[in-house]
Amino acid sequence: MSGGRRTAMEIVMPTPRSPIPFPYPGERATVTVCRLRDEVGPVVPVELAGGVGGWLATGYEAVSEVLAGEHTLFSKDARNFGGLHDGSIPPDWPLRQVLEADHMLNKDGAEHRRLRGLVGRAFTQTRVQGLAPRIEELAGHLLDGLAADGPVDLVAGYTDPLPVVVICELFGVPEEEREDLRRRAATLISLTSAPEEIGKAWNDLIAHLTGHIERRRRDPRDDLTTALVQAQEQDGDRLGDDEILWILWLVILAGHETTVHLIANAVIALCADPDQLALAREKDAWAEVVEEALRSRSPMSAGLFRYPLREVELCGVRIPAGQPVLVGFGGTGTDPARFGADAARFDISRGQEPHLGFGRGPHFCLGAPLARLEARIALSRLFGRFPGLRLAVPPEEIAYTPSWITEGPLALPVILGVT
Ligand code: HEM
Repeated sequence: MSGGRRTAMEIVMPTPRSPIPFPYPGERATVTVCRLRDEVGPVVPVELAGGVGGWLATGYEAVSEVLAGEHTLFSKDARNFGGLHDGSIPPDWPLRQVLEADHMLNKDGAEHRRLRGLVGRAFTQTRVQGLAPRIEELAGHLLDGLAADGPVDLVAGYTDPLPVVVICELFGVPEEEREDLRRRAATLISLTSAPEEIGKAWNDLIAHLTGHIERRRRDPRDDLTTALVQAQEQDGDRLGDDEILWILWLVILAGHETTVHLIANAVIALCADPDQLALAREKDAWAEVVEEALRSRSPMSAGLFRYPLREVELCGVRIPAGQPVLVGFGGTGTDPARFGADAARFDISRGQEPHLGFGRGPHFCLGAPLARLEARIALSRLFGRFPGLRLAVPPEEIAYTPSWITEGPLALPVILGVT
């Protein structure tokens, strides 16, 4: 507990309040999380688009408590709770299939530990580090392709293509199939896609990944898909094809947009503060830039639901068993109660304070080492190549993604400053 914050028992919340729309109409989801944290409280009843209700944990302490109670106080498995069965999550709600799917982010306890263990045998530190030269090469290639004159959209030309190509290299997906994969994943995660578009993208992605796994069973290569096919515990336990399918599916969905936004959000923060950019250059502090962007410009606004296994009291607010709780990751790093009055300021010299940008506990981001490596290389290569790079529009004119899960710029117009 940090400086002067009241304890959970001391906070008297007049609950239940009537649900507040989340995100607030016309507002970025992270802005709403932070506003609710500062103006309403650590745990707020909210209603998402489509009429789906729940509770939002808005600040560092509330989110930490939820993550600490993972699998003992809170379940991740929507399939065991109301909402999917009682009609409060409509059949065509854009994220319904994600909640129903059989991936590890929806699993608890022993089932989750088994999958993490087997995946860990394939998705090793050595495999991630082995990608570094290829990421350098891909970043260089994309930078070569940027037009030197006039404003350039850095999202379209650099931050968006890089992570998806890296994931495809990791899986061993052939070059000609990569654009299809990217488009399908983007449709699934975009909360503005029409239900029929989502249905088609879903079926196409599943068929694509199923075919890819079959090919790797027949024709093993040095890639993650083959390593997952071959992963085996000492007791002989192996992953089935369906389990591998859901792992690949989850890595695409969890690992693409988040990394795109991390890199883009860091570029905006650095361009908005030339002193920080100069410091990053002088000290070659790109790893610190990445951590500070994860803390203060979180690529995630809110994670998916958790469900209390029994009635719980979270920062003084009583939540009935089974009611969905959203984790407001985007409100944790800028919480003044945890990081002080200047919490929202991007400052790479503040020291590496533990942030929750990759979550915490059993579901801690599986791809954190890859995301860190990729973002560090992407930023150092970008600012190394274009020392005069600057934003082509004031930061407040940049439009952000409409999602309440991940958040980053839709487009990022910059002047490369090449003479
Ligand atoms: C889980 C953030 C990149 C794969 C998570 C969680 C967070 C997160 C907060 C926990 C979610 C929760 O507890 O509900 C991020 C951010 C990224 C990033 C901010 C980039 C900046 C990646 C990448 C991959 C990946 C590159 C894969 C290559 C996963 C997977 C999980 C996960 C598989 C689920 C782990 C489990 O359930 O045990 N991520 N992630 N993520 N992430 Fe990431």
